[in-house]
Amino acid sequence: MTATVSTVSGTATPGPTASDTATPLHPDAHWWRQAAVYQIYPRSFSDANGDGMGDLPGVTARMDYLSDLGIDAIWLSPFYPSALADGGYDVDDYRNVDPRLGSLDDFDAMAAAAHAAGIRIIVDVVPNHSSDRHEWFKAALASAPGSPERARYHFLEGLPDGLGDDGGLPPSDWPSHFGGGAWTRVVEAAGPRAGQLGQWYLHLFAREQPDFNWDHPEVREDFHTTLRFWADRGVDGFRIDVAHGLAKDMSLPLRSKPALEILVDDGSDPLFDRDDVHEIFAGWRSVLNEYDPPKAAVAEAWVPFTERRLKYARPTELGQAFNFDLLQAPFAAAEFRSIAEKCLTEAAASGASSTWVFSNHDVVRHASRYAFPDGSTQKDLEAWLLADGASPTLDLARGLRRARAATLFMLGLPGSAYLYQGEELGLFEVADLPVDSLQDPTWFRTGNTVKGRDGCRVPLPWSSFEPYFGFGGTPWLPQPAWFGPLAAAAQDGAAGSTLEMYRAALALRRELQSEESLEWLASPAAEVVHYRRPNGWQVITNFGAAPAQLPSGVDLAKLVLSSGGTDTPAVGAGTEAVAGTIEGETTLWLAP
Ligand code: GLC
Repeated sequence: MTATVSTVSGTATPGPTASDTATPLHPDAHWWRQAAVYQIYPRSFSDANGDGMGDLPGVTARMDYLSDLGIDAIWLSPFYPSALADGGYDVDDYRNVDPRLGSLDDFDAMAAAAHAAGIRIIVDVVPNHSSDRHEWFKAALASAPGSPERARYHFLEGLPDGLGDDGGLPPSDWPSHFGGGAWTRVVEAAGPRAGQLGQWYLHLFAREQPDFNWDHPEVREDFHTTLRFWADRGVDGFRIDVAHGLAKDMSLPLRSKPALEILVDDGSDPLFDRDDVHEIFAGWRSVLNEYDPPKAAVAEAWVPFTERRLKYARPTELGQAFNFDLLQAPFAAAEFRSIAEKCLTEAAASGASSTWVFSNHDVVRHASRYAFPDGSTQKDLEAWLLADGASPTLDLARGLRRARAATLFMLGLPGSAYLYQGEELGLFEVADLPVDSLQDPTWFRTGNTVKGRDGCRVPLPWSSFEPYFGFGGTPWLPQPAWFGPLAAAAQDGAAGSTLEMYRAALALRRELQSEESLEWLASPAAEVVHYRRPNGWQVITNFGAAPAQLPSGVDLAKLVLSSGGTDTPAVGAGTEAVAGTIEGETTLWLAP
């Protein structure tokens, strides 16, 4: 017997504005609630001008590919002018395009092409820090301590070093994300100490990324201007970088925080997830609601999964926050089921819609993560990315098989699926990039010990036979030979290929989406998770390696998609011996 073990969500799907909370799904205002969003890392997507760096015309040129894939929106990682000290997350000018990636006209052409194809556009906003080449930071460096120009950032005097320099030590023990400390000392250009070492400025990331002072009204106002600038150009939504970091407790003396993790997430951390950050996003929501339909937004906030994370996603703030829980979970039934259940329940309670992510430009690609030997931990993953790290034996075939099963498990869920370019090709991490090609600040700031995130940022393979796999000019990170058979053209039309699986799933997903709810169904095997959407679609995943018994009453005549591919039959309907079973590490979709 099939038993309902729990349900989530109701029928009303509150939108982002306070005024229309009772509105049911609306094709425009609520487009983001169950969207499939494809992340483009522009430098690595497609290079139209042959300079080795992907660009906006490259995105425009691939619009048919994106449309055929069946996504609802693209999210563009930063394409703004930048010295690329952190891959563009060091922004010189928030309201312009890096000339290497195109121009504002190219942006408009890309936006028009996307909209004509029914694809919406999300752009990245990086409010925690600018680059050190931003005009405000240059003005701050040129001005004296205590000047209004310095007040938009966090400049402080250092602490006595005991060796005669009253400001020789940084103002606090805070570390930075990419290694090393979070403070850099400047040589003063103006004031009584001109020409001498003087104040220190805060950068929670690389030294080229000075943190803004969000208590400063000009900083707040300027980001409203940036939101309106892109919204007026037709952008449909925003992804907010390091959303949990803007509000800081800078009262003196600064408190000690020797590690970046949030140890107690109750609002008392000096740097992250402080209560006053929410005023900022309430202000942003007012700006986003100036538009009809209101602009969507999603917070990148690496905070523990408590109700505090959901505050960012409230309809009165951003509407969504990334849930990175599945991304951090092992490929296992109990974990996937309980995370999905929790995310959906909490999202429903806050009026947000849930988000799902397996890969992005900051983490090891999930086809590689799932290829690690059973029992591997986050530490094993980190060790793999050390210059002299261990080289575990990865089972790539298994990694991809699990990645495909995980993807179909996720794409059937209510909420928004955030996909990262290349995962639809089943790309693996390029973990063995030559070290002299590495560009991630992590590599430099750890004294060439931690390789960082370049392995998931290698330019995409479009065709197996063209130079640089059809990407464009000599790619800014070298592509491995094994990219060839995984190229988009090689998978196009190939039955069972990962690309075709994504296309089929994304097309079916549009039919499958209904109310934001599901029913968990009982299953005879602990490794098998089974759910049903209100309109009758069913998703069954076997997380175990061995074949497992299918839940009773499952009618395989309704099978429309399997993650198992064509050369690995996923269901045992054909032979007597295994009839009624689902193969290991496989997801099935059944139509009503
Ligand atoms: C976010 C981005 C990451 C960047 C960091 C600093 O976490 O996703 O790529 O390095 O913020 O902006």
